[in-house]
Amino acid sequence: MTRLSVNLNKVALLRNSRGSNFPDLIQVAKDCERFGAQGITVHPRPDERHCKFSDLPLLKEICTTEFNIEGFPNEHFIAEVIKVKPHQCTLVPDDPNQLTSDHGWNTIEKKGFLQDVVYELKRNNIRVSLFIDADEKLIEGAANVGADRIEYYTGPYAKNYSTNPEAAIKTIKETCIIAQQLGLGINAGHDLNLENIRYLKDNLCQLDEVSIGHALIADALYLGLENTIRLYLNKLQ
Ligand code: PXP
Repeated sequence: MTRLSVNLNKVALLRNSRGSNFPDLIQVAKDCERFGAQGITVHPRPDERHCKFSDLPLLKEICTTEFNIEGFPNEHFIAEVIKVKPHQCTLVPDDPNQLTSDHGWNTIEKKGFLQDVVYELKRNNIRVSLFIDADEKLIEGAANVGADRIEYYTGPYAKNYSTNPEAAIKTIKETCIIAQQLGLGINAGHDLNLENIRYLKDNLCQLDEVSIGHALIADALYLGLENTIRLYLNKLQ
């Protein structure tokens, strides 16, 4: 089974644009779960342009599925995550001014740093996933620092899917077998949409979770949130 975790960044962005509490992020999270989402993801960045750190305890309180917090593990982020204790924390190597995440960890160069962060989070009973590019050595590095899961950065897959799906999926498909042998759970995210998600799911030996934000929320403008979530769930069956 592949769980659909809905990333609520864009809902928070819309809310923040008017400085009020509309749309209400917490209500939207509850509704996503009511419509079938199997997880809620947020990515609090240092400038809080999407989700705010003050949203985290409220989201944890109402989330009945799986709560995933992603982000760069600076001291503040780690302290807030440990306070909230989500089911999963996805570590992402993005710098504060980055528009969106666009690469995975160099798990070899950052080995010492990641080892310490992963240890600290796991000590607090938080499952740890590392955002990663489809590269065998980097995936081995993720296992070596003690990560429970990897999350494939699927931006390049999504970009190339429409011209050559087979080539687009090649390295993810091959390295996924290695990740599975290493005992890692396998997540995927970024630029996934109704067009490219089934092919991803069908071609990987294992896919535990996808987290999808931008396309899903954009689809919901036309189709409504309930229909949209159902359509994504159908694609993942
Ligand atoms: N995974 C990570 C680590 C991300 O940073 C994002 C974007 O916040 C996503 C998944 C979801 O990407 P998208 O919004 O393109 O679905």
